[in-house]
Amino acid sequence: MKHLLSIEAMDTASIKTILENATVIKAQRGDSQHQPLAGQTWAMIFTKSSTRTRVSFETGIRELGGGVMFLNANDLQLGRGEPIQDTARVLGRMVHGAVIRTFAQSDVEDFAEHSGIPTINALTDAEHPCQIITDIFTYQEQRGPIAGKVVTFIGDGACNVPISWIWAAGKLNFELRIAAPKAHQPCPDLIANAINGSGGNITVTEDCQAAAEGADLLYTDVWVSMGMEEEAAQRERDFAGYQINEALVALANEDALVMHCLPAYRGKEIDEPTLEAHADTIFTQAENRLHAQKAILNWLVS
Ligand code: CP
Ligand code: NVA
Repeated sequence: MKHLLSIEAMDTASIKTILENATVIKAQRGDSQHQPLAGQTWAMIFTKSSTRTRVSFETGIRELGGGVMFLNANDLQLGRGEPIQDTARVLGRMVHGAVIRTFAQSDVEDFAEHSGIPTINALTDAEHPCQIITDIFTYQEQRGPIAGKVVTFIGDGACNVPISWIWAAGKLNFELRIAAPKAHQPCPDLIANAINGSGGNITVTEDCQAAAEGADLLYTDVWVSMGMEEEAAQRERDFAGYQINEALVALANEDALVMHCLPAYRGKEIDEPTLEAHADTIFTQAENRLHAQKAILNWLVS
């Protein structure tokens, strides 16, 4: 039984298989008779808001021949305190796979363990693996192999998106630089574990300019992740200056890509002119959620 619970738990060969298959799936969209989810029904259980992840998974599951039901966790008995393990044991007897967006990584892992069906992490506080697989697919589609390249993340270095980038750097051998205020930097033990025994190279700094110098990909995410809303005012003070803007892009390589997982808050983590100048990449990145996640689904059931 395969699951996609985190980049941490993925092996390099599986990530590469998914990335290669995403290219084929994207090229064949509309033509392919390949329906690996035919006769299946998948459940999507979301505790947090979503536009891209929800629509791309619902579309992707249907395009692969499956049926899908979207379940707002608050409408389930889960929202009234039924344990995740019991929810998993019930759904595991009815549906063929699950896509879960929630707070605790342990909830997704418990669901996978107790349901006995393929389970996908569609974002937790710990990781956003489908996003980072898509981002790497998007980079490689436009610029070739990511191995040996420099990826610079600017902003909240301790949230789910950069954590998935950290694990990916260890597995795919690119250089990752994280520029974040001291209070929002990733835990050093996590970085040590991610690069342990790999050729990955990860550095963390408070200096956005130094991190952007010669980068091949500049990347950012919101300053206030879902669930952190009470800290919004403090975070806006902490992250002032941690913004991708034209001055920062000028320090990167000439053909550097700018990406944002979206949603974007203009004037905060990215300024309006920079987002618009790189909108083609950023919205291709959003579209690629569909293709990359179809490759993830295909990998899970093959
Ligand atoms: N990037 C991303 O996961 O977007 P949604 O929150 O809209 O799904
Ligand atoms: N770090 C963000 C990612 C949104 C796609 C969040 O968790 O809200």
